[in-house]
Amino acid sequence: MCGIVGYVGTRQATPLLVGGLRKLEYRGYDSAGVAVWNDGVTRVVRCRGKLANLEEKLLKEPAPGTTGIGHTRWATHGRPSDENAHPHRSGSITVVHNGIIENHLALRQELVAAGAKFTSETDTEIFAHLIDRAMTAGAADLTTAVRGVLARVHGAFAIVVLNEKDPTTMVAAKNSSPLVVGLGEGETFVASDVTAILAETRKVLFIEEGELVTVTAKGAVITDFEGRPRQREPKTITWSALQAEKGGFKHYMLKEIHEQPRSVADTLVGRIGAEQDDVSLDGVNLDVASIRRIIFVACGTSYHSSLVGEFLIESLARIPVEVDLASEFRYRDPIIGPGDLVVAISQSGETLDTMEAVREAKKKGAKILAISNVLESSIPRLADYAFYTHAGPEIGVASTKAFTTQLVALTLLAIHLGRRTKKLSSERARELLGELLQLPNKMRDVVESGAQLQAIARRYGHAEGFLFLGRGTQYPIALEGALKLKEISYIHAEGYAAGEMKHGPIALIDEDLPVVVLAPRGTHYEKVISNLAEVRARQGKVIAVATRGDSNIGNSADDVILIPDSAPELQPILTVLPLQLLSYYVADFKGTDIDQPRNLAKSVTVE
Ligand code: M6R
Repeated sequence: MCGIVGYVGTRQATPLLVGGLRKLEYRGYDSAGVAVWNDGVTRVVRCRGKLANLEEKLLKEPAPGTTGIGHTRWATHGRPSDENAHPHRSGSITVVHNGIIENHLALRQELVAAGAKFTSETDTEIFAHLIDRAMTAGAADLTTAVRGVLARVHGAFAIVVLNEKDPTTMVAAKNSSPLVVGLGEGETFVASDVTAILAETRKVLFIEEGELVTVTAKGAVITDFEGRPRQREPKTITWSALQAEKGGFKHYMLKEIHEQPRSVADTLVGRIGAEQDDVSLDGVNLDVASIRRIIFVACGTSYHSSLVGEFLIESLARIPVEVDLASEFRYRDPIIGPGDLVVAISQSGETLDTMEAVREAKKKGAKILAISNVLESSIPRLADYAFYTHAGPEIGVASTKAFTTQLVALTLLAIHLGRRTKKLSSERARELLGELLQLPNKMRDVVESGAQLQAIARRYGHAEGFLFLGRGTQYPIALEGALKLKEISYIHAEGYAAGEMKHGPIALIDEDLPVVVLAPRGTHYEKVISNLAEVRARQGKVIAVATRGDSNIGNSADDVILIPDSAPELQPILTVLPLQLLSYYVADFKGTDIDQPRNLAKSVTVE
């Protein structure tokens, strides 16, 4: 998730580009750069780190001119560095890109064989080389050249392309990643979202999937990738700047809940093999035969995803797994050594307890695999191997999209291991991967059911406590549901294994206690329904999360939230969504500070 901007007009481009990038920095800040055309030459100024570094550099290396493109980066392919910073260039072409190109390796090999010299590790650079070659080969214009290249590229992208030979025209295109055009008086803007251009114009064209747009100072011409015209009426944005930063959502947390289908799709990109029965882990080369045991270490929400990971790996790969809270692990002199693979999960990659657990495990000779959302953060750098989720920056303190992408990463890891231990057949792997690919659509379906959750939240928002119950892979989801509610609504909540209820928490149940029961279709269904009956018999109020088509559950619950059916291994990725929405709406109802709840920090870098 990067931020891109472009400007063509009569004003100086650099201040407008930098102003736009400042608004997009929430999308990533591993590096920033601009390319501005002046007097026949495109000057590229870019550097590692936040936008402030670029601004400083621009003081020493000004980039005057009235046409330009800019970028702020969230690293996915290639570490954060000056060389990997966008814009990328080949010949007369410069490009900025947001997204992931699935077939970039094959295209890169082909280009290298044809003599192209790459200067970065990014997937983006292939665009610059391919478009430059198309222009050199005699494409009629930049639009035609870009269109030809798009036909060869698979993946998610929004790009803006500048041609040194014709600064009056920029070309942008969108497939999955967001793109908007801003229309001014004798000037036109392009950006990842409206926040970047709102200070300059409120008249915008939202670019849709599979569209290419030719941008000049006079306006924009939209076509599809085949060149067929697309008509679009400009819209006038009435949002305030702050509303716009949150994509029109009231809070970052709600925006991030809604971003999950996209983040999950991004986390899958390029990892499923051509036969669709195996997974590649981006160059992570585990010696699977030597793994005796896997130990997860993590904190908070990442600990909950580890608990799901335990189920997935034990069931699909039949490797023994243990899960430990990082803060406990590091102080209990754990018995580990060579043959153990320690998997450290951390969204931020900076959590001190997890980092120290990794150091302890390393000291004792274990191999470390980090699963993180932040490229080159401290924990992946300490680890022997790193595998990344592609959730994009998570701003709300309560983790949502990081969690579901961790579950996807763990499913990919379990399938990868299962194929190598030969405990997972090619057929079952293909089924699971097929279902994984369908998940984003199913997730979209669930996150759009906000109105129902809002009504439920209003009904139970006064409660003094909540209980969350689940079995099997739904037990960690019960823990996660309780954590979400606690941290943003300040209501006490317990997550419990449903079978444990009768060993204690059943004493809590009365008519004032809402009990959220995770009851999707599957092996534990009957047992969970019995637990649910036990709650109802004690006048507890039951909110059930069940599978669409379950006609029984309505008789045993006060409220039922239905989710689409899926393979049991993937159900947690769907059942957690209503729990995130429930806690969000309860907190909103109570009026708490949802994005920055009291006493909490996004990244806990102290003990
Ligand atoms: O960045 P990490 O995944 O290492 O963070 C771990 C926890 O601090 C984090 O998950 C925390 O529990 C969240 N606030 C949960 O929403």
